[in-house]
Amino acid sequence: MHLLSSLLPSPSSYTHFPLSIDSPPKLFALGLSKDLPPLPLPNLRYPGCKLVGCGSAVPTLQISNDDLSKMVDTNDEWISVRTGIRRRRVLSGRDNLIALGVDASRKALEMAKVDPDDLDLILMCTSTPEDLFGSAPQIQKHLGCKANPLAYDITAACSGFVLGLISAACHIRGGGFRNVLVIGADALSRYVDWTDRGSCILFGDAAGAVLVQACDSEEDGLFGFDLHSDGSGQRHLNASIKEHESNTALDSNGSVLDFPPRKSSYSFIQMNGKEVFRFAVRCVPQSIESALEKAGLPASSIDWLLLHQANQRIIDAVAARLEVPSERVISNLANYGNTSAASIPLALDEAVRSGKVKAGQTIAAAGFGAGLTWGSAIIRWG
Ligand code: COA
Repeated sequence: MHLLSSLLPSPSSYTHFPLSIDSPPKLFALGLSKDLPPLPLPNLRYPGCKLVGCGSAVPTLQISNDDLSKMVDTNDEWISVRTGIRRRRVLSGRDNLIALGVDASRKALEMAKVDPDDLDLILMCTSTPEDLFGSAPQIQKHLGCKANPLAYDITAACSGFVLGLISAACHIRGGGFRNVLVIGADALSRYVDWTDRGSCILFGDAAGAVLVQACDSEEDGLFGFDLHSDGSGQRHLNASIKEHESNTALDSNGSVLDFPPRKSSYSFIQMNGKEVFRFAVRCVPQSIESALEKAGLPASSIDWLLLHQANQRIIDAVAARLEVPSERVISNLANYGNTSAASIPLALDEAVRSGKVKAGQTIAAAGFGAGLTWGSAIIRWG
């Protein structure tokens, strides 16, 4: 993705390219060897992309801090002071993640006035799929897309939605896609250790969706972005594979066999809260500053700061560093907790539908989390 986006002209440079449908760009002029496989051509007709619809959905079951205090040794005051979280929604027997994703998607399509049959691509950003092989095709099926658009999952934990957004833009700018549905949906409640007060207080389940649409370069709504990964930080936040001893197979002599592999499952979420906190407060402002620089915009141009909703103290620290006043910071963490890949589209959807975020306004969005991964995008709504 980095390679692709760095090879493609930025939206503003498209205006200087003498491009037309009849004169495709000369890729060799971009320094590419003719021995390399051909790259997809930039979208000549629609070099820009814009966000034209959003939607969200949450499970019905609500768990308050007081409810949690009956399960682990904690209390409402500790949780709300340290995190800003008051309650969260959690999947119960009545809901599932695909249904939430479909609900959020329908709302986004309705707002965008785009028919499911006109979708070219569905990106499901989730680390908790209901099928290990991918959830996006199920969203495609339940939306009833007759044209069977390409649909696949992106796994990048709490950075998933920002990565999905940038992937959508790359598909549009470089691959000729027109309507891309980006869904952020997670059910971390399934991997939370509900006896660990250090982590179970943080997370909730939800889905959010945004429709990204191809447009002319003058209307382009992705001004700049910045993405990172650092696998060396995985020990601070993970839910890793674990193998079960009980399935050990023996050969006819009673010796333990290496094959077939033992049955596996994932561990509960393992987290070093302090390290994750430090990482977020250090890396997120740097990433937003870098995205702003690439966009050629000052921090004062940000109408709304929309961070992954992990902890109010992280949000406040990043806002302070960027000198964004609190009235321009979007936060709905108190009601939903950390919903991983869903948190940014969920908060965006609430802010758009309540009239807070208006068409034409500039948003600095940033995700961060397990991987470690982090990244930001400077976007225009509408
Ligand atoms: N209720 C009451 N007390 C709790 C508690 C809880 N839920 N969780 C921890 N404590 C206690 C600890 O045992 C410790 O007690 P001690 O001083 O007697 O040893 C004390 O509170 C302080 O714990 P500590 O872990 O230092 O708190 P903290 O200020 O670092 O806050 C987090 C903990 C998890 C809220 C905070 O580190 C955090 O939010 N980190 C980021 C995590 C995150 O966002 N993860 C997802 C990223 S996508």
